[in-house]
Amino acid sequence: MLVLMGVIDAYNSAGFCLIKSKTGLNQRKFVAMASTIPVEQVNKGSPQLTGDSFIREHLRKLSPYQPILPFEFPEYSDFWVLSSRLGRKPEEIVKLDANENPYGPPPEVLEALGNIRFPHIYPDPESCRLRAALAKDSDLESDYILAGCGADELIDLIMRCVLDPGDKIVDCPPTFTMYEFDAAVNGALVIKVPRRADFSLNVESITEVVKQEKPKCIFLTSPNNPDGSIIDDEVLLKILQLPILVVLDEAYIEFSGIESRMRWVKKHENLIVLRTFSKRAGLAGLRVGYGAFPLSMIEYLWRAKQPYNVSVAAEVSACAALQNPTYLENVKEALVKERGRLYGLLKEIPFLRPFPSYSNFILCEVASGMDAKKLKEDLAQMGVMIRHYNNKELKGFVRVSVGKPEHTDTLMKCLKRLP
Ligand SMILES: Cc1ncc(COP(=O)(O)O)c(C=O)c1O
Repeated sequence: MLVLMGVIDAYNSAGFCLIKSKTGLNQRKFVAMASTIPVEQVNKGSPQLTGDSFIREHLRKLSPYQPILPFEFPEYSDFWVLSSRLGRKPEEIVKLDANENPYGPPPEVLEALGNIRFPHIYPDPESCRLRAALAKDSDLESDYILAGCGADELIDLIMRCVLDPGDKIVDCPPTFTMYEFDAAVNGALVIKVPRRADFSLNVESITEVVKQEKPKCIFLTSPNNPDGSIIDDEVLLKILQLPILVVLDEAYIEFSGIESRMRWVKKHENLIVLRTFSKRAGLAGLRVGYGAFPLSMIEYLWRAKQPYNVSVAAEVSACAALQNPTYLENVKEALVKERGRLYGLLKEIPFLRPFPSYSNFILCEVASGMDAKKLKEDLAQMGVMIRHYNNKELKGFVRVSVGKPEHTDTLMKCLKRLP
């Protein structure tokens, strides 16, 4: 029986399940505050209208996305809490929880930012300079490329262009949670086809679900966040043969040693490839992402996007970063080398089981007897931040971003003081 209320199993199979929307009340503080004074007391006799009554029904049921806390504004951040508690400066905290690039951008970026001459003028809505530089960088003509305020914006833009409320997407957890979140914001249904125990895609279940449920698009991530596995050509080609739009998120592709599939959009009308400057160029704070789209599709994304989605600062920074490919290559090499060292060292920790990764992070299973949340909290007490998972797909796991060698050293010292 199919009951479309909250999270339900559409099929009595472990292979996949259908979700109508996220459940749970919106926990934002202002919502709770708005509802503390009964409207009747204030407004006797007149119709009861509170701000949230104007909000679309499916959004009122949506639980908020949990972003990481900001670094630059210490009064709001985990750093402030941690650093003031530990009596250290925020920058002394070892931050290995959000897959940022600890080396930051090439020096040309800060110089270019300091030289911005027209901050009072709106940016180029077509980001022409950046797209020309990306065309060179990716060997794909700029007509196929659209830039955005991070890959995050492009995920939402694609959904806004493709999905009608009630349409379905396929998500393959554990993976980047923004696909599920944006689908819920856009009123779409999420069909989950969980990855296998080794985090590979279950192509048979995906094929079955596409046949039966006719979802509009599937989100694939290579390397996948949080485990770091990649999708090989054979698997990707099989999925591309299905009647579904494939959004391939390559946010971490630079660390994988495999080539980006951006150029594949010339051959596959149902493929979009997303990339970002956040990881490869250390520009997470400036928000620049980009995507490669088939020409038959990109026109509609141009029509639907916000005109000034890439700021002057973001475009200037991304262009400056691309001017120093040697720096980008050296930083990538350093992170890949450090990933190898970190993996070897994590393997020696008796309560951790690290998974091999093609990305700038390593997922670890936390051995029974040791609580993943407690491990994260204990490390935070010592000034090291990592991410922990405790959901249906990943219970008792932690993810550690690859940092500089000194970050690995500090992490290992702290781990050795546990449990
Ligand atoms: C798989 C994946 N895609 C996209 C993003 C977001 O990229 P951006 O910073 O360009 O919005 C992330 C960020 O962590 C990610 O893990």
